[in-house]
Amino acid sequence: MKTENLKFTYTVYNNIKELDAADASLLKAARKATSHSFAPYSNFRVGAAAKLKGEKEIMIGSNQENASYPVGICAERSLMAAIAGKFGRKVIETMAISYINKNKGKKSNEPISPCGMCRQALLQYETNTKHPIRIILSGQSGKVYIINEANSLLPLQFDGSAL
Ligand code: THU
Repeated sequence: MKTENLKFTYTVYNNIKELDAADASLLKAARKATSHSFAPYSNFRVGAAAKLKGEKEIMIGSNQENASYPVGICAERSLMAAIAGKFGRKVIETMAISYINKNKGKKSNEPISPCGMCRQALLQYETNTKHPIRIILSGQSGKVYIINEANSLLPLQFDGSAL
């Protein structure tokens, strides 16, 4: 018997001002993309923005909820579907994810990180494009986390190699 340890590394910035210009503008696009969210059930509006390899255009996504709750889709997966729909298997260099929590008394100044289903989808996207996706996480203000690859968000992952 032995115990294994996994190491998770990410960088913490105090605010958007500490980012370089490209990352700062991507995070601003994610913050703004929350305005396209449809979240009347959770009041939790998520926005995501992606910088693609070789493309100037920043692609955006947002969570789209449904009266039949499980039908709703997260911002990250709506973004990946939009990218694949438009470009096919296009490398995502960096994805920024932000949110506004519209629930009473809630703030939006701490980073949130992708749900488990989105982590699985991000992982498959990385595998399909053979390229790591850098992830920038932040609320509408405050701290920013940068993670160098989605792969590190899902240890002991299930992937197609097992099938
Ligand atoms: N949501 C996202 O869009 N991305 C995440 O990473 C976490 C959760 C959405 C799903 C749902 O519409 C709302 O946030 C509350 O869970």
